[in-house]
Amino acid sequence: MNLLFIGDVVGNAGCEILSKRLYNIKKEYDIDFTIINGENSAQGNGITPQSYDKLIRMGADVITTGNHCFKRKEAVGMYSENEILLRPANYPDGAEGRGFTVVDLCPVKIAVVNLMGTMYLESLDNPFFCIDKILEQIDTPNIFVDFHAEATSEKKAMGFYLEKKVTAVIGTHTHVQTSDETILGGHTAYITDAGMTGPERSVLGVESEIIIKKLKYHTPVKFVESSNPASINGVVVSFDEKSGKATNISRIIMH
Ligand code: FE2
Repeated sequence: MNLLFIGDVVGNAGCEILSKRLYNIKKEYDIDFTIINGENSAQGNGITPQSYDKLIRMGADVITTGNHCFKRKEAVGMYSENEILLRPANYPDGAEGRGFTVVDLCPVKIAVVNLMGTMYLESLDNPFFCIDKILEQIDTPNIFVDFHAEATSEKKAMGFYLEKKVTAVIGTHTHVQTSDETILGGHTAYITDAGMTGPERSVLGVESEIIIKKLKYHTPVKFVESSNPASINGVVVSFDEKSGKATNISRIIMH
């Protein structure tokens, strides 16, 4: 089977290019299942019911998020209502929503786990202990982990930690695609960051001049999404659905 993972979709530009191209990408790569990181899919970042609907309508099977999952007040209630919308699993007990889901494609089941790193991000529960507990509850070998983290070291460590335990560990959050895709231990597809689907000439999707001003003067600025042309970043993971073994991981970059 082939699974498509789309890296952090940013704002209108990201949603627009993906809605135009996703159907053909799925056809071209013979995709059976699609995961989209949608934590910045709303205009002004975060996720809203409107941007969630856009991602579902264009063909997402599961939507993952990260540190911006609860950024928008419009998102309140969304995580409890939608089983295929995930927030990081290592949020404290009692936080709205769920951190993993198992989708039954009859007879194949696909589990998707969303985890967040704790280096240079909020101090959530330890993601390593968290994934241990989750793996005990999952009854399929086809397990895909979106590890939303800032530090490359934390992502690499998680990849090795989950080697031979899951089908893929796919990093998100930095919006910069890395070229270190590999199959760990002959079983687990890994990439440090799948990249961003959004305005290409930008700083993580934001107008570069605004970020330069912020970094130069350290005075408040309003983030505005770049109006430059967008591109699509992601990966395709091919896997054997009986064993959960990944056989290939390929990066996608489309302009
Ligand atoms: Fe993020």
